[in-house]
Amino acid sequence: MSNPFSPAQLWALADQHGTPLWVYDAATIRARIAQLKAFDTIRFAQKACSNIHILRLMREQGVKVDAVSRGEILRALAAGYAAGHGDDLHSDIVFTADVMDEATLACVAEHKVPVNAGSIDMLHQLAQASPGHPVWLRINPGFGHGHSNKTNTGGEHSKHGIWHSDLLAALQAIRDGGLKLAGLHMHIGSGVDYGHLQQVCGAMVELVRATRQAGHDLQAISAGGGLSIPYRDGDATIDTAHYHGLWDAARKDAEAIVGHALGLEIEPGRFLVAESGVLLGQVRATKNAGSNHFVLVDTGFNELMRPSMYGSWHGMEVLRRDGQAMPLRDAVVAGPLCESGDVFTQGDGGVVLPRALAGASVGDLLVIHDTGAYGSSMSSNYNTRPLAAEVLVDGDSTRLIRRRQTVEELLGLELGL
Ligand code: LLP
Repeated sequence: MSNPFSPAQLWALADQHGTPLWVYDAATIRARIAQLKAFDTIRFAQKACSNIHILRLMREQGVKVDAVSRGEILRALAAGYAAGHGDDLHSDIVFTADVMDEATLACVAEHKVPVNAGSIDMLHQLAQASPGHPVWLRINPGFGHGHSNKTNTGGEHSKHGIWHSDLLAALQAIRDGGLKLAGLHMHIGSGVDYGHLQQVCGAMVELVRATRQAGHDLQAISAGGGLSIPYRDGDATIDTAHYHGLWDAARKDAEAIVGHALGLEIEPGRFLVAESGVLLGQVRATKNAGSNHFVLVDTGFNELMRPSMYGSWHGMEVLRRDGQAMPLRDAVVAGPLCESGDVFTQGDGGVVLPRALAGASVGDLLVIHDTGAYGSSMSSNYNTRPLAAEVLVDGDSTRLIRRRQTVEELLGLELGL
């Protein structure tokens, strides 16, 4: 639905850097951050868009960061976020996971990065490797919601979080292992239905109560991420004041239980970056197949996986170089990959859904909207396609923030061993 750039700007960037190309708008990111300023801590879930320059922009705006792998911790450090100091509440980086390999364990111990644990085994391993380490507990409250089954992170079919009835066992593991409890965290899914919010907040208050009754103190609660964005006309736009109000009320209830002030964190990915980004591709062929008209472009699901993976809908527009408007026609927009599912206009289960688009011809630009989140960060090298370049636009300044990968770089990993 959203494209912050003018056609002339996009043509100039495509001419300069080639396609496929990711383009992000800094002003949109800053505006989304401002909408969440009522929370004590905004912690960016960098998996949504982890380019170091985007992380720096976040840091400059006072946004902290979540990491879910050793690589994401090293990215956050490279972007200037500080390693931990044992001051849990204000730590720049928190590591969230359900499982930790040995290298990651060594990394969180070395950089004193608080760990948001989604399994009790993680607590045992951490206690051994890093006595006194600060931890959050990520709890699965027994229900969840997401824009697709694949992004629902609560309930018994989700692998995420410590099951709510195991809270006491987790607290015991913290005590036995000499770890320090920083806070409780819940993230029940990505692309949430706000109808669930009251239930989520209520569950958090009950978890705080049980934690306190077990004799533990804590410093903060985290609302997780999950805030959706309007991908298409008619999609709900989140009322961030209402969202904060419900969580703030839960925080106050929790403060009454623990008897002191508690920090309130939020951990969005999509909300902060999705609308800032577009993916540019060039139309390379058009053809008909029975009742379908195909528009084939030079970008595929190796760049933007969301339509193939979840049946996600992204707004699209065709830009002609001469600026002329073209009559709409129904088209299936597909990529260059050698795989039938490489189609951007599809529904859940891979059903091809032709979309009314300006009639496209070879050489036109295709702009795919709202791709700032889970676009570039989910890209792959499938079909030996190099990762695309990324550009950040900030007012009048435009910066290449990742150069295009080369095939030679890819081959280099395998040759000359
Ligand atoms: N916190 C935790 C622990 C998470 O697992 C996630 C996302 C977030 C925060 C941020 O969620 P957000 O605010 O972005 O909804 N690839 C999918 C989304 C997967 C989200 C995974 N976890 C997509 O393209 O829709």
